[in-house]
Amino acid sequence: MEDRIDELRERRAEAEKGGGEDRIERQHEKGKMTARERIDYFLDDDTFHEFDQFRTHDTHTFGMEGQQIYGDGVVTGYGEVNGRKTFVFAHDFTVFGGSLGEVFAEKVCKVMDKAMDVGAPVVGLNDSAGARIQEGVGSLAGFAEIFRRNTEASGVIPQLSGIMGPCAGGAVYSPAITDFVFMVKESSHMFITGPDVIKTVTGEEVSFEELGGAQTHASTSGVAHFAEDSEEDALDHMRRLLSYLPQNNVEDPPRVEPWDDPDRRDEELNSIVPDQPRKPYDITNVVDRVVDEGSFFETHADFAKNLVTGFARLDGRSIGVVANQPRVNAGTLDIESSEKGARFVRFCDAFNIPILTFVDVPGFMPGTDQEHNGIIRHGAKLLYAYSEATVPLLTVITRKAYGGAYDVMASKHIGGDVNYAWPTAEIAVMGPQGAVNILYDDELADADDPEEKRQELIDEYREEFANPYTAADKGFLDDVLEPPETRPRLIDDLEMLSSKRDAQPDKKHGNIPI
Ligand code: COA
Repeated sequence: MEDRIDELRERRAEAEKGGGEDRIERQHEKGKMTARERIDYFLDDDTFHEFDQFRTHDTHTFGMEGQQIYGDGVVTGYGEVNGRKTFVFAHDFTVFGGSLGEVFAEKVCKVMDKAMDVGAPVVGLNDSAGARIQEGVGSLAGFAEIFRRNTEASGVIPQLSGIMGPCAGGAVYSPAITDFVFMVKESSHMFITGPDVIKTVTGEEVSFEELGGAQTHASTSGVAHFAEDSEEDALDHMRRLLSYLPQNNVEDPPRVEPWDDPDRRDEELNSIVPDQPRKPYDITNVVDRVVDEGSFFETHADFAKNLVTGFARLDGRSIGVVANQPRVNAGTLDIESSEKGARFVRFCDAFNIPILTFVDVPGFMPGTDQEHNGIIRHGAKLLYAYSEATVPLLTVITRKAYGGAYDVMASKHIGGDVNYAWPTAEIAVMGPQGAVNILYDDELADADDPEEKRQELIDEYREEFANPYTAADKGFLDDVLEPPETRPRLIDDLEMLSSKRDAQPDKKHGNIPI
């Protein structure tokens, strides 16, 4: 027996070395952790259980025979994050560049299947040269098996992707289907075709970082939700994000022991919204003061900054927050912010996370660029996402809610459960200037002093519409709140709504205008 145990230990030690000491050193020289180091850092101490440590590839061509390496380039298994079961796979770049062959893919599929069987999140740590060239169509088949599982798991279990190295060609589509993508600045890149191919085909010259680095994807393409300074930051933030989520779509998100007074009235909220209707302010100051102290965790922060999204807690309960940001493009909705918001709202809805929406929106962004690129169908995504959501929707209008954008931003009419406004709210078809120009063009042309007349009409319009009371009179708002009342009121409402039952009619799936 002892011999056998020694043999097992030797095999294990060999497997743990992956592609060997030299390649591990090369990985460290690039400032990167190995697959095992990442898993070790990510999971709670001593909770990792590995699957398939001894699997090797079965390829006999291109000199691959005799090049079997235990694990075949991916470390897979399960462990715990903050005491909760979590499945992981981590590409091992020291083994054939982390390239994906059939056995590698089978290992990834096994953890995804188990995660689905037991209803727990899957976290993928990507660092791979893509399809394993020597395995040809076998590796393409492997990718497709993973893509199909990503799709089946979407909306059933949370799926997070950490991009810790290259992620190129077809390989990008697995992370793309997952719920949140974390990239590391300088050391991770995602692209369909790399700089060399681009130069050959189009003549365009671009660096790896500019083409598909973390900052590019977090701010320009929107592919990444987080651009992190280090692998450790990425892994820490993935742990934090999971803390807001349920394990699967039939569970509620965990409620943590509250640490902030539910009756806290923050009087500063009375002075955040400026008296001048066009003066910008930072909506995150409002969010931070309403939710549990320090709980707001912004997602997609560098993309479509005119709409803020993120997770937070109210009296220990998880919520999703969506808020127009008056500081960027006056908080207008455009193509990118509509897509960002729609995807976030759908995520929250899939995972039973109530959504708190702060509204200060002058409308959709005007312009031929927006119209020709399809603001109509993209804007419709956000409208659709809110309209199909069955989770509790809580809405607070802080200032402007104009036109179709009023309807879109979780209004009563598309399913808002509780809708409030602050006394500073202005709810109308459009702003006073535009409305007066359209309604009174003849009067203005005939007036002795058109500017004086215009101001008079604007003041009149403001008096009539630039307040929350017409909407409150119609029952479209449940109440008008003093800003400091917002937190205690929302906490009570969230408790009231915790037993909400709502469902969409049975259908195969809707046809969201994607
Ligand atoms: N299939 C099989 N092995 C591969 C591979 C692939 N697609 N790509 C890289 N490798 C191997 C290399 O032969 C090398 O093996 P070694 O350790 O035995 O020398 C190892 O992985 C590391 O690759 P290397 O090129 O030395 O690393 P790098 O950090 O300099 O570059 C890449 C990394 C990903 C940029 C580069 O390897 C590359 O461009 N690979 C091809 C990517 C691709 O087009 N994949 C198909 C997309 S679906």
